[in-house]
Formats: sequence, C-alpha cells, structure tokens
Amino acid sequence: MHSISIDELVLPVTAGEQTAAGAAFRAAHEHGERIGVERYGPGLASLTLEERLAAWQSSDAEQHRKRVVRDGERIIASSSIWLPMLESTEVGDHGVAAEASLAPETRRALIEALVDDAERVAAEHGRTTLMGGSPAAASGAVMASTGFGGADPDEPEAAALIARGYELEQVYRMSVADLRGLERGERPLDARWADASARAAADGYETIAWSGPAPAEHRPAMRALHEAMSVDAPVGGLALEAEVWSDERLAEFERQKTAGGRTMRTVVARDRASGELAGFTSLFVGSGDVASQHDTIVTRAHRGHGLGMLLKLANLVELRRHHPTHPRVRTMNAEENRHMLAVNEATGFVPVAYEGIWQRKVAR
Ligand SMILES: CC(C)(COP(=O)(O)OP(=O)(O)OC[C@H]1O[C@@H](n2cnc3c(N)ncnc32)[C@H](O)[C@@H]1OP(=O)(O)O)[C@@H](O)C(=O)NCCC(=O)NCCS
Repeated sequence: MHSISIDELVLPVTAGEQTAAGAAFRAAHEHGERIGVERYGPGLASLTLEERLAAWQSSDAEQHRKRVVRDGERIIASSSIWLPMLESTEVGDHGVAAEASLAPETRRALIEALVDDAERVAAEHGRTTLMGGSPAAASGAVMASTGFGGADPDEPEAAALIARGYELEQVYRMSVADLRGLERGERPLDARWADASARAAADGYETIAWSGPAPAEHRPAMRALHEAMSVDAPVGGLALEAEVWSDERLAEFERQKTAGGRTMRTVVARDRASGELAGFTSLFVGSGDVASQHDTIVTRAHRGHGLGMLLKLANLVELRRHHPTHPRVRTMNAEENRHMLAVNEATGFVPVAYEGIWQRKVAR
C-alpha cells in the first residue's frame, strides 16, 4: 500500500438508503462485523444495520466521528473518535481497527495512519487528553497503571499508542454468562434469585422492574444514579469528570440506546422505609442471542446487602421471561473492579476478551 487515504464517513438518514452515503455506511457495517468476529468471536458483537446506525449517531452528550480506509468498494480499516460534549471536554477518545486478513505490514501502516489522523481530529476540537484502545489481556508485558490487566507491546494497536507516549491506564474484561448453563448448575437461577430476594427483604429492600424509559416517578432518582455511576465506577487514572444528568440527557440516552430497535430492561432496588432507590441495573436486548449488560450500581449508603447480586439475578430472570431468544449476556468491567467482578463471577460470567484504555496528555 503506497499512500493511505482516510475519509470521513457521513452517516445516511436510514440504514437501507440507496445513496452513496448509504452504500458507504453499509460497507463500514460489513467491516465492523468482520472486526467484531476477529476480536470477540462470532455473534458476540454482531449488530443489525439499524442498531449500528443508532450506535454511531452523535448525541448532545457525545460527538462521534468515524474515519474509514477503503480498498475499492470495501472498507478495510477504520477509526472512531468520541468527543464528550458536556463534561470531560478536554478528552478525545479514539479506537482504531484494521482487518486481520491484511498483510501484517499493511495492517501496521493503517493503524499508525489512523491513530495520527484520530489525534488530528481530536486536536481540531481542542482536545488535549487523548485516549486510545487496544486488545489487552489479564496480564502482559505492559501492566495497566491500576495493577490489574496488561497488554502485549508488540500488538499493532498497542505498539502505535506506546510509540506516541500513551500509558496503559485500565484494562476491561468482557465476560459472558449463558443462562442455559446457569440453569444446569448446582443452584438454578430461580433458587439464587429467591435467596438474594429473601436477604434483601429482611434488610428492607424490594425490587421493581420495567422495560423502556424510566417511569416518571423514578426519573429524578435514575438521574442521580447515573450521576453516581460516573463517580463510583472505577476509571483508574483516566481524566474523566463527574457527569450531570438532566431529564433531557436521560431521555436522550434512553432514546439513542433503543433507536435501532433494542429493548432496555431495568431493575431498581428500593429501600422500603424511605422509598429511596438504592441502585439499579440495565441491560439491552437487540438482535442476535446475546443481551448487553449496561450499568449496575448500588449507592454507598446501601452497600453490603447483596443488592448488586440481587439486581443482576432479577434482571436475568426478567430476560429469561421476556426474551427466551436471548440466553446469553455480555458485560464489560474494569479488571480492578473487584466488587463488581465478584458479583459477576458468582453469577456465572466467564471472561472472553480484554481491552486496554490508554491515555496521553498533550501540551496546549
Ligand atoms: C458493584 C456493587 C454494585 C456491589 O455492591 P453491593 O451489592 O452492595 O456489594 P455486596 O453487598 O456484595 O458487598 C460486600 C462487601 O463489599 C463492600 N463493598 C461493595 N462495594 C464496594 C465498593 N465499591 N467500595 C468499597 N466497598 C464495597 C460492602 O460494603 C460489603 O462490605 P461488608 O461485607 O463489610 O458489609 C458496588 O460496588 C457499586 O455500586 N460499585 C460502583 C459502581 C460500579 O463499579 N459498577 C460497575 C461498573 S462496570
């Protein structure tokens, strides 16, 4: 490959649209599917065209830029650049991918070029804290600054970031639970859920489940829980600020996350005495057979009653009841987040892949 040309992907209005933008988007979707299979195996990261179009849209909270490299009609490499717009506005977060079928030297050259390009885009937006991603592992020659998880410095994405002065701040573990396996285990889901509910009830808590947007009566509490999530979930040394959630932001989040046809299922734990919401968990159910776990939090005042486990189990019971076509759930957790991983491991989640998040600060 002699010269590398990187283009901005302009999203079409609809996924099936018969325009140049529609065709380019569909080529980028095919590339995204191939990358998903290479990284996570078949089915785990697969999306429909509509889901991907929704996932790639910008929102008031975050702008998303997509850059692509073509080989004829086919897209062979790409990057995403995410620009937070409400807080953490110094941050430009990017992820690059070049297909594994490419010759190794071509692949490395594309990754290098895409990282330089992503940094240029971030700089155009005045971003001085750059974040990048790479495949990672439970341990590696480069350890995360959290002390949990590592990366291989020769892996092309990691190598490009290291060469530019990035440091590995955090490693995330993707894990998957298979409800069919849990049912065959020593304690089936219903028995474990009953235990967790009995313990919570004895301590004065109950659960409430819904699908779709949060009901009006719970919206102020859900905003506060999302704000707590941005502070309490570990971010290692990443320069991410506390988030402020207006009702408009909550509504936009709910709209965007379900725009491609996904269903959002939420369970909250309520302190019966005060009526206060002590925590929540959400998952998204779309195409394929794998539901996607989203946030889980129990606020500090209510920890230590097993509510994290209760919320998880309750939502798995909801999933089994309403979406029997989705027996698997995938989740991403920071490798140092022992409290969340303890709950997930006990629930039956098994690691399948790791991703590193790297950071470098540039002088203004
Ligand atoms: C993961 C989480 C929901 C677990 O909370 P929980 O269900 O109340 O946890 P448990 O009831 O199993 O608590 C067991 C013990 O660990 C303690 N504990 C739980 N989470 C803790 C935390 N984040 N920090 C310090 N201690 C914690 C509890 O107080 C309890 O201590 P005790 O035995 O002395 O009473 C909670 O840690 C949390 O909300 N974390 C922040 C949000 C987060 O990281 N979400 C996941 C992002 S992927």
